[in-house]
Amino acid sequence: SDDELHARIRAAKKTLGDKLVILGHFYQRDEVVQYADFVGDSFQLANAALTRPDAESIVFCGVHFMAETADILAGADQRVILPNLAAGCSMADMADEDAVETAWEELVELYGTEPDADGRMPLMPVTYMNSSAALKAFCGRHGGIVCTSSNAATVLEWAFERAQRVLFFPDQHLGRNTASAMGIPPEQTPMINVHKPGLGQTEETLRDAKVLLWHGFCSVHKRFTVAQIEQARAQYEGCKVIVHPECPKPVVDAADAAGSTDAIRTFVEASEPGDVIAIGTEINLVNRLAAQYPDRTIFCLDPVVCPCSTMYRIHPGYLAWVLDGLVDGEVRNQISVDADVAGDAKVALERMLAAKP
Ligand code: 13P
Ligand code: SF4
Repeated sequence: SDDELHARIRAAKKTLGDKLVILGHFYQRDEVVQYADFVGDSFQLANAALTRPDAESIVFCGVHFMAETADILAGADQRVILPNLAAGCSMADMADEDAVETAWEELVELYGTEPDADGRMPLMPVTYMNSSAALKAFCGRHGGIVCTSSNAATVLEWAFERAQRVLFFPDQHLGRNTASAMGIPPEQTPMINVHKPGLGQTEETLRDAKVLLWHGFCSVHKRFTVAQIEQARAQYEGCKVIVHPECPKPVVDAADAAGSTDAIRTFVEASEPGDVIAIGTEINLVNRLAAQYPDRTIFCLDPVVCPCSTMYRIHPGYLAWVLDGLVDGEVRNQISVDADVAGDAKVALERMLAAKP
């Protein structure tokens, strides 16, 4: 029964004490979030993993790339556990290492490897956190860096101090929205496709490019539309709209603000009683904010419930199962990144952690 499941989780947490830390992403369901020692966006959770070096086990209630990142940053004597191994991210799966290598080689052939007069290299790879450890390692090896939705502009500025252009993967929308906010015109943010001759672009377009976009997207955030924003504004005069930067650019342009899951939370926190706020992001976060602020009208822009189906795979039953294992001295569902991949990936992650606005 549910009661028995929750009793097991509470008992295991008590038994394991400080040897255990549970991290929960904002998109996790409330039945799971209630057990998290830290709840945050993907950047905050990467840092949270570092704040508890005493914990032997880091149980990550989130998706696979987040657990990999925690494993890369965690100490050698810490282990990271993902309660359900099927909790992936479809966007992260849209960029595989071979395809990125192929695109990279074509681009290196075009741009060469000689730095310009200011010492900037012709091209730098930048990966969104939502990517495999192998791609973070690729960035580490090629002078590149990782970004999250909360620091993408800072990271791109860091990149442009060191490179003339950026190859940005996997999320085209975060790349396009961030470049646009930095004043880079659309003709300098072409989308490339490794399956098309010349990456699907003319040589002239590629030469003038500043941010070359991979074709990945988030199936949750691509559902949001400008029509939904117009409808919300028509229904509620003065309605404020905030969306995640994984939404398509017209949606971000039509919203009042765009930001990471934590930026969405702080936007709501800074609002006033009586305010009406329409949010373009995953439903678990929107519903939690609506429950936390009952004196405001807070709703999801998409009237059809849009959960992230993979985040949702972390059911309390899996959490109970991995915690029971730890109590019995059995490690279940450990995420362990190969040492050589982890070493290179850590270089790219540490560049991100050190890049300050
Ligand atoms: P945040 O970095 O904003 O938490 O986003 C992670 C994510 O997967 C959004 O879809
Ligand atoms: Fe991946 Fe989208 Fe789910 Fe975030 S919401 S984990 S980007 S599929």
